[in-house]
This record gives sequence, structure tokens and C-alpha cells, in this order.
Amino acid sequence: MKSLIFLAGFLAIGAAVVPPSKVVCYYDSKSYVRESQARMLPLDLEPALSFCTHLIYGYAGIQPDTYKMVSLNENLDIDRSHANYLAITGMKRKYPALTVLLSVGGHADTEGLEKYNLLLESPQARTAFINSGILLAEQHGFDGIDLAWQFPEFKPKKIRSSWGSFWHGVKKTFGSTPVDEKEAEHREGFTALVREMRQALNVKPNKQLSISILPNVNATVYFDVPAIINLVDIVHIGAYDYYTPERNPKEADYSTPIYTPQNRNPLLNADAAVNYWLQGGAPAQKLILAIPTFGRTWKLDSESEIAGVPPLHADGPGEAGPYTKIEGILSYPEVCAKLINPNHQKGMLPHLRKVTDPSKRFGTYAFRLPENDEGGIWVSYEDPDTAGQRAAYVKSKSLGGVSIVDLSMDDFRGLCTGDKYPILRAAKYRL
Ligand SMILES: *[C@@H]1O[C@H](CO)[C@@H](O)[C@H](O)[C@H]1NC(C)=O
Repeated sequence: MKSLIFLAGFLAIGAAVVPPSKVVCYYDSKSYVRESQARMLPLDLEPALSFCTHLIYGYAGIQPDTYKMVSLNENLDIDRSHANYLAITGMKRKYPALTVLLSVGGHADTEGLEKYNLLLESPQARTAFINSGILLAEQHGFDGIDLAWQFPEFKPKKIRSSWGSFWHGVKKTFGSTPVDEKEAEHREGFTALVREMRQALNVKPNKQLSISILPNVNATVYFDVPAIINLVDIVHIGAYDYYTPERNPKEADYSTPIYTPQNRNPLLNADAAVNYWLQGGAPAQKLILAIPTFGRTWKLDSESEIAGVPPLHADGPGEAGPYTKIEGILSYPEVCAKLINPNHQKGMLPHLRKVTDPSKRFGTYAFRLPENDEGGIWVSYEDPDTAGQRAAYVKSKSLGGVSIVDLSMDDFRGLCTGDKYPILRAAKYRL
């Protein structure tokens, strides 16, 4: 009996100490202007919101001449006709526990890319950005700001060299061409930006600051963990898109591995990305691991190895999906539709063969070899099973939670099996 009481007390303390896992949901406002089945309206978010602890509105941008943080689509975000900022932050009335942040950058801001670097070099530009950003967020009811800073990406590397042997190791292939000659200055500038943003937010009640690390940004270069970790509430680790058809058009490979597959660069996987922050002294609870809801697709041709095992020869990005209409990308419901050919209907393309990974370390892929006139396709993607595996990884490392990148590419209509948001749900249940 005594031991039972002791146990109960212990469990109660345990529950109090470990905060509940976070489920950070990215909302990409571009989904509002897609067509037909891919068009997501604020109402479509509702079935997701009982699972999300945080909602991140993507994305605001930077005005090149003034360095102010601004809406990239005022007509949608701000003007009275849609007033999407207010529509989204207004979700808090029904879901009061939800934290809604306004994110800036996220690769959505495509005009004059050097402004992200220039801003970090200038204290005046940082001040203009911070003041305008906080005002924009406050005026529209956001709980804070997320910095999805558009740092320069490192150069993609071939897995296999021209003579056919596999990747040889860090020394031989890395560090030759610097992408950013002022790396150190930009690292310091970002630390200053975070510090100044925190100070400015501190005078407001309950305002949060998070950062999102975009894929293929070298965190070692730009993020000074000990200097910034106490200033931010959350770090969203964008551990996806390690291989993409844009960056690696001739080689298809797992785009979102948890661990390194054999003979690959040991830095390009979720575990390595997480360890960088842990080794820098970040509390595990502040780290959130991304789960992408879209697949990366490559065209296969007659030179592609017929077994389909990655890495394999490819011929650029796969065709755009019928709904999302972006080359090299298929949303989860678009992948799902390609896996099933109901009743083997005539005239429909043969379905893709799905290959799961029993080790649960690298991810799932599906493919169809080129045949007669039909092109071949290879897709690396997350499904509810692999989303659950990533959530299980997060749990095993006692990280803060997962992020869903993004809601509009999950099956928000339930086209695949009838369940809405299957990837979000699978991740949530495994946390
Ligand atoms: C990131 O930068 C570090 C330090 O310069 C370097 O050792 C590492 O190879 C880089 N990582 C990638 C993936 O390029």
C-alpha cells in the first residue's frame, strides 16, 4: 500500500515535471489560393486544431528597402475581404489553448534574397524589422513571432561520384566552396536579432519567440546554440528535404531519413540535426522535429536501376500533382491516390509499388519504372506509419514534440481513407 501511494506520488510529480508534448502545425497560406481539392480555407483547419498545440502562420516577408516585416499578400492576409490573419488567430476563441505565431521567411519570400543577410549586418535594419514585426503580429492577434530565416543553403553533393563509387567521407567532399563569405558576421547578426527581438517582446505580455531551421541550412554555421537557446521558446528543426529533385536532379534518394542510410553523408538526417542542438546544450524539451506531409518525386528513365533501391539514377523532378500542381512534389493524398488503382480500371496508369523500411530508420518510397510510353516515377514520402516512427523517435529522445509541415499537404479532406489529417493524427497518437 505504502509503495502504491509512493508510486502515485511519483507519477504525479513526473506528470508535473514533463510538460505535454507539443504538436506544432504549420499553416501555409498559399494553400488558400490553390485550386479545387487542394484549396484549403480556414474552416478546413478545424478538424486539425484539437490536435495542434501551436499553429504557425506561414509566411510574412521582409520589404527590401525598409527591412520592415510585412505581409507577402495583403489582399489575403489583411484586407477586409479575406482578413486571413484575423480569421486564423480568431481560431483561439474556439481553441483557447492554441498558440498562434506569425512566421517570417520560410522560402516563401522570393524577392531580393540578399536582404536576409543584409538585415543581419545592420543594427538599424534589425530595429526596423523587430518593431514592424511586433506591431504586425500584435495588431492581428498573434501570440508571437517565428523566425524561419532564409539563410543561404549549402551546396548539394552527389552521393556517387562520376566513376560510380559511393560517398567517401566528410573531408573529401565538403568544405570546398563557401556559399556565404560572411558566415561569421551573419551568425553573430542572427544572435543579435534573436536577443533584440526577445528584449522587445519581453515588454509585451506573454509573447513567444521561436525559430524554424529551414532544410539545407547548415545549423553549425548560423546558429550559436549556447547564445540563443535561452532566448527562444521553441526551436523547430526542419529535418526534411535532405534530397530533393531540385537539388539532386540526377539522383533520387530518401528525402527525410531519421538516421543515415549506408554510404551517405552522416550529417544529412534528423538524428544528426537534433544532436547538434543537444550537444550545444539545448534542453531537449525545446526541440521540435518536423514531419513533412509531402513527398519528393523524381522522373525515372531507361538508365534508372530497375530494383528501385535508392540512391538511383533519375531524370529531374517528377510531374506536378493534379491538385497541388508543383513539380517534384506530391501531397500525401496525391501519393495515396497513386498507390491505389480501384478495380484496376482500364486507361488508368499502373499504380506505384510501395516499399517500406522494416528498420524504421530511413522512410518509405514508392515507384513505377518507365514502361512503353509511360514515364517512370520515384517518390520518397511520409505516411501515417513513418510519421508515427518520427514521433516515437521524438519520444525516445524526450524532445518537445513534432511539427507538421504543413497542414495543407496532409489529407485534410480525408480523400485517402476517410480520416481527415491522417499524418497529424498518427504523429499525435505516438507522442
Ligand atoms: C556545416 O558546417 C560545418 C562547419 O563548417 C561543416 O563541418 C559541415 O560539413 C557542414 N555541413 C554540411 C552538411 O555541409
